[in-house]
Amino acid sequence: MSEIIYSNQYEYLSSLRSEPDALIKEMEEYAEANRIPILNWKAAELLEQIILMIRPKRVLEIGTAIAYSSIRIARKLRKKGIVDTIEKSLDNISLASDFIKKADLSEKINLIEGDALDIMPQLSKKYDLIFLDADKEDYEKLFYYSLVLLKKNGVIFIDNLLWHGFAASSKVPPNYKNSTKMIREFNKLFTNQKALETTILPIGDGIGIGVKI
Ligand SMILES: C[S@@+](CC[C@H](N)C(=O)[O-])C[C@H]1O[C@@H](n2cnc3c(N)ncnc32)[C@H](O)[C@@H]1O
Repeated sequence: MSEIIYSNQYEYLSSLRSEPDALIKEMEEYAEANRIPILNWKAAELLEQIILMIRPKRVLEIGTAIAYSSIRIARKLRKKGIVDTIEKSLDNISLASDFIKKADLSEKINLIEGDALDIMPQLSKKYDLIFLDADKEDYEKLFYYSLVLLKKNGVIFIDNLLWHGFAASSKVPPNYKNSTKMIREFNKLFTNQKALETTILPIGDGIGIGVKI
């Protein structure tokens, strides 16, 4: 695995992390044990801070998995804030639904079942914040759908843009070649959008942030 930040820096930052609550800890352990990719905890902290800064009323998440990030987002929203989250895997839908109930957040998190490629063109209400975290081969299309659904001054938050460090590496293993190429092409497209002010941060697996202007 290639590195995004030096491992001693990651270990140092991890040593400063305060103990997460029981549910978050359980979800992180569940995801790790079952090899379900979820947002890195440091990137999740950044996402939570953005929520506290921009106070979104409507959030769209593309890629729920077990609802780890949906729950972290929903907990930071104001009273009337809601998260619509789209997931296509039946196994993950069932896990997400259990965790959302356990978190007592069924009122705030609306789990939409199906492929975001089919669902997003049918959505009409706009969002203050969109979190894109789905299959990398779908990123370009899902990103364009997101631009349509994002309000002016809205924020798009995108995971995996440094792709385990391979996006910036000259040594890419054969099984990562295609996905790395896709992420590199996506990053060019993302950072060249006239409608967005963008940056890519070396946090977690590389976070893209775009503000619609
Ligand atoms: C990286 S995981 C999401 C992790 C989650 N956002 C978190 O941080 O807790 C990606 C998820 O997106 C789902 N997914 C991928 N492509 C999708 C699509 N086109 N429509 C709906 N779900 C999709 C996968 O099934 C998987 O559960």
